[in-house]
Amino acid sequence: MLRDIERYLTCPHCALGLVLDAAGRTLRCPGGHAFDVAKQGYVSLLPGDAHTGTGDTAEMVAARADFLAAGHYAPIAGALAAAAAEAAPDGGDGLVVDLGAGTGYYLAAVLDALPGAVGAALDLSKFALRRAAKAHPRAGAVVCDAWRPLPLATGSAQLLLNVFAPRDGAEIHRVLRPGGQLLLVTPTTRHLGELVGALGLLAVDEEKDRRVAEKLSPHLEPLGGQQVEFALRLDHRDAAAVVGMGPNAWHTDRAALAAALGALPEPVTVTGSVRVAAYRRRD
Ligand SMILES: C[S@@+](CC[C@H](N)C(=O)[O-])C[C@H]1O[C@@H](n2cnc3c(N)ncnc32)[C@H](O)[C@@H]1O
Ligand SMILES: [Zn+2]
Repeated sequence: MLRDIERYLTCPHCALGLVLDAAGRTLRCPGGHAFDVAKQGYVSLLPGDAHTGTGDTAEMVAARADFLAAGHYAPIAGALAAAAAEAAPDGGDGLVVDLGAGTGYYLAAVLDALPGAVGAALDLSKFALRRAAKAHPRAGAVVCDAWRPLPLATGSAQLLLNVFAPRDGAEIHRVLRPGGQLLLVTPTTRHLGELVGALGLLAVDEEKDRRVAEKLSPHLEPLGGQQVEFALRLDHRDAAAVVGMGPNAWHTDRAALAAALGALPEPVTVTGSVRVAAYRRRD
């Protein structure tokens, strides 16, 4: 619920703290700016001139929700929850932010592992946040842009999750409290490799890990990480969903994709391969 994270939220116009009214319908700052809570429970804290162009569409979100609900990425959620429990061995006492949270699937797994924490699902897609608002009783959902100042108080987050989503190191540094950690999940070059070849999808670039680490390095210190690999057994519907829910949704011709999918065995065995890495906020 937004009430759980109200004390951490800030106004996108003037950066003052926001207060939720008694009915839970409107957030207001002392400067007179007001933000209505949508009936599905999320709130938009985008500045007026913001674009929502890179946020997931309703179709992409539906594909992602189905795919995740089937448990295909449960090994990633498990690894992330274990990393969170290691980062906060006392069960958490503050805010966990999921930046680019999508449907809130990973945030919910982490909050289950940290009974003392509350969660903020941040995303640019209202379609994703309609679901994230209901993903966990201790989570609230906020529309915002990862490339703009986040509507969160400086030093407010104990932990920040970033799973297959955009990130800005300087803003992550600002919202993390001293000693706070970023848990980052990125695909390795082996991720969905069988589908990349057969369906002509975008491949993960070999240099990605190095580039990500380089960009974060002025703000965050790497603590280590692990590669998580698992086998996915996908029917054609699942394979279509995994394409439709990711960046390929923007680039793939549907007819060509359907033809290529039809030529795959069913079920098709596909490699899931990600890196789960922890970083500590630099002082
Ligand atoms: C590949 S999805 C990952 C979602 C979720 N972390 C998961 O793995 O299920 C990327 C997410 O980033 C969001 N997104 C894209 N551009 C964004 C931006 N500029 N700011 C915040 N979120 C953004 C999309 O709406 C989408 O939910
Ligand atoms: Zn304001």
